[in-house]
Amino acid sequence: MTKYNTLLLEVDKKIGILTINRPKSMNALNSELLTELEQIVEEIETNKDIDVLILTGAGEKAFVAGADIKEMAEKTAIEGQTFSKLGNTVFKIISNLRQPVIAAINGYALGGGLELALAADIRIGSENAVFGQPEVGLGIIPGFGATQRLSRAIGLAKAKELILTARHINAKEAADIGLLNQVVEAEKLIDKAKEMANHMLSNAPLAVQYAKKVIDEGYDMPLNQALTLEENTFGLLFATEDQKEGMQAFIDQRDAQFKNK
Ligand code: CAA
Repeated sequence: MTKYNTLLLEVDKKIGILTINRPKSMNALNSELLTELEQIVEEIETNKDIDVLILTGAGEKAFVAGADIKEMAEKTAIEGQTFSKLGNTVFKIISNLRQPVIAAINGYALGGGLELALAADIRIGSENAVFGQPEVGLGIIPGFGATQRLSRAIGLAKAKELILTARHINAKEAADIGLLNQVVEAEKLIDKAKEMANHMLSNAPLAVQYAKKVIDEGYDMPLNQALTLEENTFGLLFATEDQKEGMQAFIDQRDAQFKNK
C-alpha cells in the first residue's frame, strides 16, 4: 500500500520508476501532488536501493499537462507566488538529486510538465509526445522554472520562441532543437529509459553522481572557477575504492566490480 495519493514508486535493480498518477486530469500538478512529490524525492535522495530515477506519467495520453489550471484559476497574487515557489522548490530538489534522473515522456508535456522534464538530466520522448509552454495563453508566465531552464537547455532564441508563441511542438521537432535526447516508439519508452539507466549503472556510482554534480554546479560559474571544481572533484574520486577497482580492472583486462565506495 502506498502512502501517496498521486504518485507511484517502483524500485527494481537500483532503478526507481516514479509515476505521476492523476491520469483523469492528465497528471496535472496540483498542490497535493507537488507536496507529495517533494516528500518522495527527499526520500529517494537517501534511498540506497535507487541509483537512477526514471520519471514518467500514468496513462497513455500525458506525461504531465501542466500545473492544475482549475486550482490556479482563483488564486491571488501572493497565492500565485507561493504556488510558483512550491513548484520551483520541488523541481530544484529533483534537479539536485544525487541520482541521475531520466524523464520518460509518454504524451503531453505542457507547462509545468515540460518544466518537470527540464528538471531531469535526460529526456526520452515517445513518438506521440507533445511539448509546449502554453502559459502566456493563460495570462501568466511559466512558473516552475522554464523561463530559466528552457534557455539553458535549448538556447535563448528557441526558448523565447516556444514561450512567447505558446505553440506545441512534436517529438521530432523537440529532438531537433535538443530538448530530447531520444525519440522512441511509445511501447518501447520505459524499456529504452531502463536501457539508458543500465548504461549509467554499469559505471562507478560515485563517479556518475559527482560528474552530474560538477556539470550542474559548474554551469553557472565562471569557467576558471568551474574548472577548479572539476580538478578538486577529480582528485576526490581518487579517495574511492571504486577508482582503484576501475583502473585495476582495466589493467587486468576484466570487468570492474564497483561497490559504491
Ligand atoms: N489542469 C487541470 N486540468 C487539466 C489540465 C491542467 N493543466 N490539463 C488537462 N486537464 C483535465 C481537463 O480539464 C479534463 O478534465 P475533465 O475530464 O474533468 O473535463 C481532463 O484533464 C482531460 O483533458 P482534455 O479533455 O482537455 O483532453 P484533450 O485530449 O482534449 O486535451 C490537452 C489534452 C491538450 C493536454 C488539454 O487538456 C490542455 O490543453 N491542457 C492544459 C495544458 C496547459 O495549458 N498547461 C499549462 C498549465 S499552466 C502551468 O503549467 C503554469 C506553470 O508553469 C507552473
